[in-house]
Amino acid sequence: MTGASEPVHSDAGTVHLRRAGTSVLLALPAHPDATGAPDGSLPAVVHWGADLGDLTNEAAAAVERATRPVVPHSALDRAFRLPLLPQPARGWTGRRVLEGRVLGGAGLPAVPLLAGAGPAEVEDGDETTAARVTFRSADAELGLEVRTELELTPEGLLRVRHTLRAGTGAGAAAGFEVAHLLSCLPLPAPATELLDLTGRWCRERAPQRQPIHQGAWVRDSWHGRTGHDATLLMVAGTPGFGFGRGEVWGVHTAWSGDHTTWVERLPTGEAVIGGGELLGPGEVRLEAGEGYTTPWVYAGWSDRGLDGLTDRFHRHLRARPQHVERPRPVVLNTWEAVYFDQDLDGLTALADAAAAIGVERFVLDDGWFLGRRDDQRGLGDWTVDPDVWPAGLTPLVEHVVGRGMEFGLWVEPEMVNQDSDLFREHPEWMLRGRETDPPPWRHQQVLDLRVPEAYAHLRDALLGLLDGHAISFLKWDMNRDLVDTGPGVHAQTQAVYRLLDELKSAHPEVEIESCSSGGARVDLAVLERTDRIWASDCIDALERQSIQRWTSLLVPLELMGAHVGGPEAHTTGRRHRLAFRAATALFGHFGIEWDLRGLSEAESTELAGWIGLYREHRSLLHTGRLHRADSPDESLWVHGVVAEDGGRALYAVVRTATSADAVPSPVRLPGLDPGRDYEVRVVGPVPAERAPRLQLSEGWTPGPLLLSGAALGTVGLVPPVLAPEDAVVLEVSAVPR
Ligand code: GLA
Repeated sequence: MTGASEPVHSDAGTVHLRRAGTSVLLALPAHPDATGAPDGSLPAVVHWGADLGDLTNEAAAAVERATRPVVPHSALDRAFRLPLLPQPARGWTGRRVLEGRVLGGAGLPAVPLLAGAGPAEVEDGDETTAARVTFRSADAELGLEVRTELELTPEGLLRVRHTLRAGTGAGAAAGFEVAHLLSCLPLPAPATELLDLTGRWCRERAPQRQPIHQGAWVRDSWHGRTGHDATLLMVAGTPGFGFGRGEVWGVHTAWSGDHTTWVERLPTGEAVIGGGELLGPGEVRLEAGEGYTTPWVYAGWSDRGLDGLTDRFHRHLRARPQHVERPRPVVLNTWEAVYFDQDLDGLTALADAAAAIGVERFVLDDGWFLGRRDDQRGLGDWTVDPDVWPAGLTPLVEHVVGRGMEFGLWVEPEMVNQDSDLFREHPEWMLRGRETDPPPWRHQQVLDLRVPEAYAHLRDALLGLLDGHAISFLKWDMNRDLVDTGPGVHAQTQAVYRLLDELKSAHPEVEIESCSSGGARVDLAVLERTDRIWASDCIDALERQSIQRWTSLLVPLELMGAHVGGPEAHTTGRRHRLAFRAATALFGHFGIEWDLRGLSEAESTELAGWIGLYREHRSLLHTGRLHRADSPDESLWVHGVVAEDGGRALYAVVRTATSADAVPSPVRLPGLDPGRDYEVRVVGPVPAERAPRLQLSEGWTPGPLLLSGAALGTVGLVPPVLAPEDAVVLEVSAVPR
């Protein structure tokens, strides 16, 4: 779909953008009666949602006219159509999207009033490129100019950002301090329910739901990083929307520092959904001629429920030129295997055990650098500790590579322990907002990357590590909130991006994982420059089922690290059988965090079997469409990945708790081609004692059964009787009719 059937012109009054089944219809102010707004000066979104088909300019203008707001009693004399930047000075009484303070003179707070400053530029292109609209607006009195960019990607995601420039025009003020500049879109009236995600360490991305009332639901995050509680997506939809049902509108703020995401409904009936960066006092002070660009706020629409939104985000991420295309290697990470207990003999033995069962990447976690015997010291000293590694890391790296595996290394570049050589030499490089130190967190402080010498020192240390060793992968950690930094978070976040970009350009072959005390830095901006996220420090399979279910709302499985831990989860104390741990990690970028040196023969064989299953199916898992069933039984979850061509799929049926029903009802397998026949079988290494329980149903035994995609998607099949906290994996393959 390539946009309107007639060429779109900015003077036509409307612009109609179409991509992947989404339409965005904009009213542009250049047309004398296009906006229906008294200011008549800023573009407004008339429609964001279902595809409106080919519209002539006249038909598009008719939609605009038909939806103009009317004037209620006791209100401004002319009605407003909500512009892309709602204007308080023209009657918007909701959350303000642009505020600041004039620099110089009395330094008064200011709420700018913007008016269009030139025709919009429209680039429609074809369905393989983003459709783009750019427009300028200005507050002549304050000497401010705003450039707004709006793009509809080939996957049907809308993204918006603004660039504010100060000191433009005659008589302009000396500059402008930005309090905030946010992006929002009108939320259509049918969206009456809200879903957002919250969390904490080891419990990231937990869903919460509520009706949308009048008022605002604001998810401010002042962690100085994305945050364990960041919502990832805020979704508004029609009543009862689920994974596969309902019309939904969702937004994501692509920023790894302080940020907000919100929904607001006013008594007028107007509603918005939006996001943006949160700025502290003095963080963005624009001298004349300087500019500030907001993060992108991504917005998706679907009439197929959350899975439809997910599909757009996954496709968007997969379409990026830097998206990892190589098969995602099976990982062994040393953290929960040995913690700080590192030495060459022990780790070469671990590497041998890993290689023997099919591991492909060995990641040396925290504990290898100077003085790092525990989590109280050493951060900042990125040289190999000679006490632990007398011959350096090279013997281990060579051993790992010699076993046919890649070598990966853990770093936490942005941090410093006060007990480190770096801090003793450069206490002035610590990020602080006042004379007294910020409170420590995990005994650590933050390195001030705004200081050019500190930045250069860190960059050179990291480049030295990459230049000096055959490192294929960096696990980039960041283990504390930024508090009491003064006006520091904005510039620090930008510096981290710059550092990642520099390292990537020097070593494009090195993959980087974004870890932050588990999953506290998961967002689309960090994913622009990294190749994997660590979803959580909790690898308890039960908790992980939920964490991964909701992380994958936006993050495709190939970018989501998922590890098999030991039988007893370290962070919760729960015990789970290997089949449940492995079937959980299977739906991600599979890895292991378990001391393989102590495995029994049976455990090794079973784990090797799961690795084999992952390797066999990873190309499907990492390119197909994710589907999650809306199950009436809350203790029975089903998710699966269906190949693009509908020919194959892999599903997990997961029993999260005991069920009220003794006999499980049939579970539906969503996403298959209704017109094809499929063979369904239980896969995965099944130890003999488990086998009898893992029959699909009586009619099923002993071999696979054939069912149509329509039957599997609407009638379903009775799963095996699963104990609570267990799962079974089903392979579904199309067979010729
Ligand atoms: C953080 C990470 C863990 C591990 C430790 C090491 O908590 O999330 O995976 O790397 O740091 O200290």
